[in-house]
Amino acid sequence: MATELCSLGPDVPLAVHGAPDYGELRRLGLRPADVLDFSSNINAYGPSPAVREAVARTPLDRYPDNDALALRGALAEHLGVSPQCVLAANGSSELIWLASLAFLRPFDRVLVLGPTFAEYERMAALRGTCLKIHRAEEKDHFALSPAAINDILASWRPHLVFLCNPNNPTGTAFGAPIVRDWIYKHPYTLFIVDESYLAFAPDLGSAADTTQDNVLVLRSMTKDHALAGLRLGYAVGAEQRIAALVRVRPPWSVNALAQAAGVAALRDRAHLRCSRERLAAAKSDLLAAFAELGMQALPSAAPFFLVRVGDGAAIRRALLHKGILVRDCASFGLPQYVRICTRRPEENARLIAAFREVRHGS
Ligand SMILES: Cc1ncc(COP(=O)(O)O)c(C=O)c1O
Repeated sequence: MATELCSLGPDVPLAVHGAPDYGELRRLGLRPADVLDFSSNINAYGPSPAVREAVARTPLDRYPDNDALALRGALAEHLGVSPQCVLAANGSSELIWLASLAFLRPFDRVLVLGPTFAEYERMAALRGTCLKIHRAEEKDHFALSPAAINDILASWRPHLVFLCNPNNPTGTAFGAPIVRDWIYKHPYTLFIVDESYLAFAPDLGSAADTTQDNVLVLRSMTKDHALAGLRLGYAVGAEQRIAALVRVRPPWSVNALAQAAGVAALRDRAHLRCSRERLAAAKSDLLAAFAELGMQALPSAAPFFLVRVGDGAAIRRALLHKGILVRDCASFGLPQYVRICTRRPEENARLIAAFREVRHGS
């Protein structure tokens, strides 16, 4: 299914996201610490202890390095590319904005593969582009056909594509060979591949290729390294693409604590590996618990997944009164679903108990 619209910003609605709404918590008399958050797709095992030590050592009264040289160097080494092919940013959200500023002009054709993260559509609209949304269908468990995407790329010839892989909120994913095939076959299209969740599914492989001018990969360290409060992301791409992002970025957007945290997090690979394994085991038990409740959870390559609950907003509300936050998916056009991100086993048990109570009206 595809919809097409051309719009000229800035009358574009704000995007809806997961994570606690602090105003709502205040109205309900809840403190953020009282809420177990299954709505943000973050590593529930938290940051490496090395991150806390690095942050504690960082002076607060000095400007951060505007070029984030140490972090850029650590990322380049980690990725096996030159530092000129990497840019650190204030979360991958900032990179979506920078890429849109640098590479989109009014009436450019932009393809979004939906349902997906709302900032792509929002930025395409704010830049006044012609947007086509190719939307996956429920009957296919929201998996898109690579052949159908290839046909759109060939016939519509978009200037830019936003591809979230693995995709938020559906958890569907393409292996890197499929994405690379599109990149090579359609050199006039710039592929912005958002791999914010790839660290949770590394077997898929990355589309990053610094020798190809038409692909820019975005990654988030707020998710896998659990740095959401500090905000950290990075882009990997050909030198000239990264240079174009640098030209439109605001100064000092990556603060000193985030830079220090990023370097420390990259050094502690065992922490990420270990938490990824524990989350995978916890997810499998959580899916089994939903099945026991007779609730349908959709297959997902990520730690989060969709569950069909009937009225997603009502379920979210009822759970929040019990101190449990899930993502209601109405803003994705999926009002019958909630998205849940696996947490630690004991926390997942609380979620299942709360679901049981909500279903029995207690
Ligand atoms: C697909 C996707 N991209 C980017 C982001 C933004 O992440 P960050 O915290 O790195 O800005 C999110 C956050 O939910 C996301 O789901």
